[in-house]
Amino acid sequence: MVPPIPPHPHASRPNSSLDNPHPPPPILLPARIVARLLSHHFGPSIHNYTFIDFCAGAGGPTPSIEKHLNASISTSPPSYAEAATAPPPVQFILTDLHPHPALWSAAASASPNLSYVSSSVDASNVPQHLINDQKQKGKKVFRLFNLAFHHFDDTLARKILRNTLETSDGFGIFELQDRSLSGFLACCLFGLGAMVMAPYYAFLWGAPLVLVWTYLVPALPAVLVFDGWMSSLRTRTVGEVKDLMGSCGLGEGEIRKWEVRSGTERFIPGVGYVNWIIVTRKGSQE
Ligand SMILES: C[S@@+](CC[C@H](N)C(=O)[O-])C[C@H]1O[C@@H](n2cnc3c(N)ncnc32)[C@H](O)[C@@H]1O
Repeated sequence: MVPPIPPHPHASRPNSSLDNPHPPPPILLPARIVARLLSHHFGPSIHNYTFIDFCAGAGGPTPSIEKHLNASISTSPPSYAEAATAPPPVQFILTDLHPHPALWSAAASASPNLSYVSSSVDASNVPQHLINDQKQKGKKVFRLFNLAFHHFDDTLARKILRNTLETSDGFGIFELQDRSLSGFLACCLFGLGAMVMAPYYAFLWGAPLVLVWTYLVPALPAVLVFDGWMSSLRTRTVGEVKDLMGSCGLGEGEIRKWEVRSGTERFIPGVGYVNWIIVTRKGSQE
């Protein structure tokens, strides 16, 4: 277990559930952890970066990461003079090989710091204009892979890493599972959680069949647990990600230019962990 992340020196008072009469559900907590990790690792240089989610799926945690990150690094309330010189909020962009613009536009309309690319973006062959747009704005590109990197086989993962190292200034892999015994047990608990939450979702979605497939034929919890186990088995260790970087086709000298950091942050005692790998070009945070 890594020590808790110390607050960033430029952080304002952290968001607390006490500030909010409707505290976020637990599923948002990992996003808050990722936001803290990023603001801690980048410090003031975070304003030099644009964060591009390359596997946003239906949206995933990036809209929440954006919200928490910008809330934690903004000084409030700036004076008139300070407001003129304060760095602008950090920008986030949603992309995917199979984009979901209808879902993403709803998230983007809720934040001026979140945008998306409606056309398909292949993480193994990024369109040059996406990177150039950021360079023209004086921004470095940091790629986010939230709950996604374990989906790639080694061949695709190498291609994605090579393209990332060739065109970006860093990337982060964030996963909620790993190949540990506690990771496997956690998947079982999430199955139990599905059983507890079934009436809520049956009501929310107006779908009574959820109850049938949960209690009468417990297919939904079984699929959830099985999917979790498969994801756990496929989740790479930091050593395995380093090996893939080393064999992605770039020379040893190029790989040595990158700094790899990793760790684990707990969000539910005993079962809920964010496993993170953050890779940045050496010296890029100066
Ligand atoms: C499990 S989903 C990620 C979900 C999302 N990040 C979340 O946390 O809910 C994996 C995503 O990776 C995308 N994907 C797969 N191969 C890709 C590639 N080569 N380039 C970009 N996205 C890819 C898929 O379309 C899918 O949406």
